[in-house]
This record gives sequence, structure tokens and C-alpha cells, in this order.
Amino acid sequence: MDETRTHRSLWTLTTPTRDFPTLPGDLTVDVAVIGGGMAGLTTAWLLKCAGKRVAVLEMNRILSGQTGQTTAHLTELLDTPYATLRRDFGEKGARLAASSSRAAIEQIASLVEELRLDCDFQRVPMFQYAETARELQSLEDEVSAARDAGLLATLTQRVPLPFAVKGALRVEDQALFHPRKYLLGLADRIPGDGCHLFENTRVLEVQDGKPCRVVTDRGVVTATDVVEATTTPLNRVFMHTKLFPYRTYAVAGPLDGALEPAQYYDCKEPYHYIRTQPVDGRTYVIVGGEDHKVGAEEDTARCYAALEEFARERFPVESITHRWSGQVIEPADGLAYIGRDSARKHVYVATGFSGTGMTFGTLAGMLLTDLILGRENPFAALYDATRVKPMAGVKDFIQENAEVAFRFVADRLARPDGKHLSEVAPGEAKVLEVDGQKVAVYREEDGTSHAVSPVCTHLGCHVHWNGAERSWDCPCHGARFSPTGKVLNGPAVKDLPSRKLPT
Ligand SMILES: Cc1cc2nc3c(=O)[nH]c(=O)nc-3n(C[C@H](O)[C@H](O)[C@H](O)COP(=O)(O)OP(=O)(O)OC[C@H]3O[C@@H](n4cnc5c(N)ncnc54)[C@H](O)[C@@H]3O)c2cc1C
Ligand code: FES
Repeated sequence: MDETRTHRSLWTLTTPTRDFPTLPGDLTVDVAVIGGGMAGLTTAWLLKCAGKRVAVLEMNRILSGQTGQTTAHLTELLDTPYATLRRDFGEKGARLAASSSRAAIEQIASLVEELRLDCDFQRVPMFQYAETARELQSLEDEVSAARDAGLLATLTQRVPLPFAVKGALRVEDQALFHPRKYLLGLADRIPGDGCHLFENTRVLEVQDGKPCRVVTDRGVVTATDVVEATTTPLNRVFMHTKLFPYRTYAVAGPLDGALEPAQYYDCKEPYHYIRTQPVDGRTYVIVGGEDHKVGAEEDTARCYAALEEFARERFPVESITHRWSGQVIEPADGLAYIGRDSARKHVYVATGFSGTGMTFGTLAGMLLTDLILGRENPFAALYDATRVKPMAGVKDFIQENAEVAFRFVADRLARPDGKHLSEVAPGEAKVLEVDGQKVAVYREEDGTSHAVSPVCTHLGCHVHWNGAERSWDCPCHGARFSPTGKVLNGPAVKDLPSRKLPT
């Protein structure tokens, strides 16, 4: 069976596949970069340019993680409002957050130009639109905070949308691109001159030291420094108390009519994010949203249906041709964590990118390259991965961690859905009790059944079924597993053990 039947994104379906080798055995490099997404590939490329010997280690195929599932708005407007950033990180912090996002957009623009990457990169304005008087009021407050932070932000009544709105916050000089075309351009250039890119090579353990040892299922990579660019760091307990995983959804289709190329967001909670994308000479609209905590929603098909309805009601969409979803990792205090990992001297992390991981992932490449080379970086202190800000986001911090503790206990005590295989219909998944033990069972449409342990191999929470993506998802820190137990998403590195099928 197809182990990774995540709905494939427009980006994946409009670019060729690329094959890179698996790690052939033990290897020594200067830097091991774990993860072949935006953060990992950008870091690897910039380190290679700086003369380092780098090995990228990707457990699946490159760009099969969140970067393959993104919608790729490149924006300086972060998920955390600038007014909140100013309150929690001070005026200087808010300005640095804005200028680091700008620096990331310009880094992408300069690589596009320098390497002549044909990736549909274009500068566009961004509109965050209000549909009620109250939303407009909150945008007025945000315009002034965003301007203070250095954004070219204004309040406007002229919003080029095909439906009426009260007004919008407009930010100039944001950008759109095709993330997979861009990153395949970098990936193709990584191998050579002592650098490598390996796929289907899963990292099982990172041992800090001089040198570090990165243990994979294919061999051991010895490296002076290690970068964990894995969306969410591997097996770190403390770091995970500051990270909250959410799922988010996107749909796309060709437009029967015009829509000005731009980024659009509404003010709902969770918000919808919208953009245009040229495909074979036609303009497509992409609409994203319907976020929920990982593992909190079983009827995930409902999220696609709601987005489709939203798209059809507001835009002249001819048909919905693409559907996909992925994970965003919310940081406790509203900003990404990029830098050296707490207790480890030569291991770096890049995580907590929220809904702006295209820019934060690029920034991670720039910042970690500087840290590894021992160069000053103006943004290092702001994104320090070891920081703890007790007051910023304190409500979410307590609530989210209380939920993890609750899930850990409640799911263990929860009654099983049944005892017999006959209680699981084709296409359904249930947690059954077999010989006093819980077993997670999925029955395919053709009747073939798979039984695995429901205990997440990260820290032991119980997994929940995700109907639309056909995966077992862990509500605690966002690990995901296929119906046969294969790890689809970290932080878990071990598969769910298979179990005897119930009768
Ligand atoms: C639907 C959606 C819409 C989004 N929209 C936007 C947007 O408009 N703008 C924006 O800026 N951001 C957006 N984001 C967020 C952004 O896409 C992500 O934050 C970003 O892609 C994360 O990049 P990454 O390199 O950190 O992670 P990933 O792309 O997930 O890469 C991490 C890689 O590490 C690999 N890995 C994990 N564990 C191991 C291991 N043990 N061994 C080896 N490899 C491992 C994974 O397989 C994966 O390929 C969106 C995300 C989603 C899902
Ligand atoms: S992801 Fe941490 S317990 Fe499952």
C-alpha cells in the first residue's frame, strides 16, 4: 500500500520528481543537516557556498514534509500581530522581527536572480481584509504597529477582491513563488565538492560531541555541527513544551475570471489565507485555513469541504482541482526558535515557524550559517532557541501543556471503540481491545486490515485517526504515522510496532 497517501499539493503535481541516493554507509562531513525542507535545503546551500562540506539527511523524499504542503506566501506580516510582538519583545524586537522577515524575502529574491531559478517569483501586495467594523478597528491598530516596525503598511478601501469588504491593511512589496521549483533548484546544486543530499535516510539519534555522531538507519554520519531542520526537533522533551502542532488545509482551482495577483488574508480565527498562482497560462486561486490541533478532529474531510465552500462562495472558481494539508508548529511566545539547542554545544534547531515558515525557514538558513561560521548575526538574540519568556503567550503555554498532560492520561483511560475486527467497516479505523491491550486498527476499502500499537513512540501519548489523510496522528507533539505504523512526521523516529490482528 501507499504509505504516504497525504493529498498531494499543487506544487508537487506541477513539478517533476527527483531522486537522490540513500546514505551508502558511514560518512564524515563538517555539518549534517537533518531535513530536506525549506530550512534544511537553504541551510545546506548557504553552508556549501561558505565552503563547508555538508550532508543533508532526509527520511522520506525531499520536500515531502511541510514545505511540499505549503501555500508559500512570502510575507513580513507574521501570525503574531506586531502590536503583540512590541508588547512581548519590545520596540526593538518588533523591528528586528520585521527586518529579519524582509531579509529572508530578499535572500530568496537574490538566490532566484543569482541562480536564475525559474520559480514564478513575483512581488505582490498583501491585503488583510476586514468584513466587520470590529475587524476594521483591529486592523487600524495593527497598521500603526506594523508601520512602527518598519513595514510599508497602510489602511485602504481599495481591495481587489470579487466580494465586498470594509477595508484592508495593505503591505507593499511582499512576494509569491512556486516553492518546489525554487527548492529543487537549490537541491540540484547541493551534491558535489564534498557535499551530499541523501533521501530515505532516517535519523534515529543525534549525539552531541566533538565530533557529533548522527545515527541513521543507513550508517553513522560524523560531523562537527548538526542542524535539526525537521519542522519539530527530534526527541527533545523541554523544547516540545514550547511548541504546539496544528493541522491546516488548502484547496486550489482555476479561475473563470480575473483576480489581481496578491496575497489575501481575512481576520477570522483561524484565518483564511488566499493567493493566486499561474499554472499552464491560467490563474489559479489557492485558499487555505480550517486549522485545528493535531489529532483533535477525526472527520478531517469536513475541513476540505468547508474550504471548498468558502472558495466557491467568494471566487469564480471553475473547479477544485487540488486539495492538500500539512502541519504548522506554533511557538509559545509567537516567534520562531532558531539557534543552538539548550544543553547541546554543536546541535542547532530551527522550529516554531507558525504559518510563515517560508521566511522563517530561509532566515534559519541565514542565521544558522552565521552561527556555525562564528559570524555575528543581528537576529540571533531575538530567535535564541533557548529563550523562555514567562509572560509572552503564557495563557496558551499553560493551556496547551495542560492539554498534552490531559491527553496523555485521558486517552489511556478511554474505553476502546470495540473488540472485534467485524466492528471496523472498510475505510474505517478504530482502537480495539485485544487480550487486554489496545490496538489501532485500520481497514482498507478492499478489506485488508492493519493493526499497530496506538502508543506514540515519541513520549507515549495515544494516536488518533485522521480520516482525510488516512494516518494515525499524535495530539501531543504532532507525530504522524501511516496505517502500517511508518513515521510520516517527527518528532517520533521509531515506527509504531505492528500488532496481531483481532479476530
Ligand atoms: C497548508 C500550509 C500552508 C502554509 N502556508 C504558508 C505560507 O503561506 N507562508 C509561509 O511562510 N509558510 C507557510 N506554511 C508553513 C511552512 O510551509 C512551513 O513552516 C515550512 O515549510 C517548514 O519548513 P521546514 O524545512 O522547517 O520543515 P519541512 O518542510 O517539514 O522539512 C522537514 C523535513 O525533515 C524530515 N525529517 C523529519 N524527521 C526526520 C528524521 N528523523 N530523519 C530525517 N529526516 C527527517 C521530514 O521528512 C521533512 O522533509 C504553511 C504550511 C502548511 C502546511
Ligand atoms: S509526538 Fe510526542 S508523544 Fe506523540
